[in-house]
Amino acid sequence: MKIWVNGALHPAESAHVSVLDHGMTVGDGIFETVKAVHGQPFALTRHLDRLTRSARGLGLPDPDLDEVRRACTAVLDANPAALARLRITYTGGLSPLGSDRGDAGPTLVVAAGETTRRPDTTAVITVPWTRNERGALTGLKTTSYAENVVALARAHEQGASEALFANTVGQLCEGTGSNVFVVLDGELHTPPLASGCLAGITRALTVDWTGAHETDLPFDALERAEEIFLTSTLRDVQAVHRVDGRQLPTGPGPVTAKAMRVFDERSGADLDP
Ligand SMILES: Cc1ncc(COP(=O)(O)O)c(C=O)c1O
Repeated sequence: MKIWVNGALHPAESAHVSVLDHGMTVGDGIFETVKAVHGQPFALTRHLDRLTRSARGLGLPDPDLDEVRRACTAVLDANPAALARLRITYTGGLSPLGSDRGDAGPTLVVAAGETTRRPDTTAVITVPWTRNERGALTGLKTTSYAENVVALARAHEQGASEALFANTVGQLCEGTGSNVFVVLDGELHTPPLASGCLAGITRALTVDWTGAHETDLPFDALERAEEIFLTSTLRDVQAVHRVDGRQLPTGPGPVTAKAMRVFDERSGADLDP
């Protein structure tokens, strides 16, 4: 495996950043996960736009997007795979041991790993911890993801693949690495960005392509929804067949099946929508 670190490809064994990198010591960094099918990244322009927005939110210098694109191409060419997750990480770089960022300049790492297509349906749990819709990092895709690590481990313990959060005022928000859609009275809804969820790229495309409503939803909408699905870069549109102890139909319901079909068709027809 070859990994891009600060300007060049390296074999994985020698692809290193400093132990004093601010991403390592305090989680001062941002990232993107991009799907690549047969070496072709999907929706890269949207991912790079979000990378820049996240950098600005953290006060990091704008990433050099030409370099990031070059790095993505080099990494995908060097690591051929039918389906891969391309991971772009951009951090505060070499810094003092505290929360002050150093002035050595940012670190850029681009890596790829082969993956397999997700199942069409999955189980999720709810967790008692909240997303903060008013935090300094709200809406940014930062490497400070340990809350997601804890919640996802809880999901796996309970035989589920995702954990869903409410925000601090009890509204439905998102999963550890996905957005959530629900069908209520036959209508498709997803929480608005003001709920504190990440502006998921799959979410935005799904809203555009299905006409889903962005609606403030109470967390217990999950107990009433006729159908539920998740969206993310590696899940695309994925139906939910169980929430906590509540069983939903084992296959995707009609609204979900249509969203899956539309997403497959539209994303197949345009690799950079
Ligand atoms: C917290 C969170 N919410 C939602 C998503 C889904 O976003 P996207 O569709 O851009 O992958 C992600 C990304 O994986 C995420 O980390």
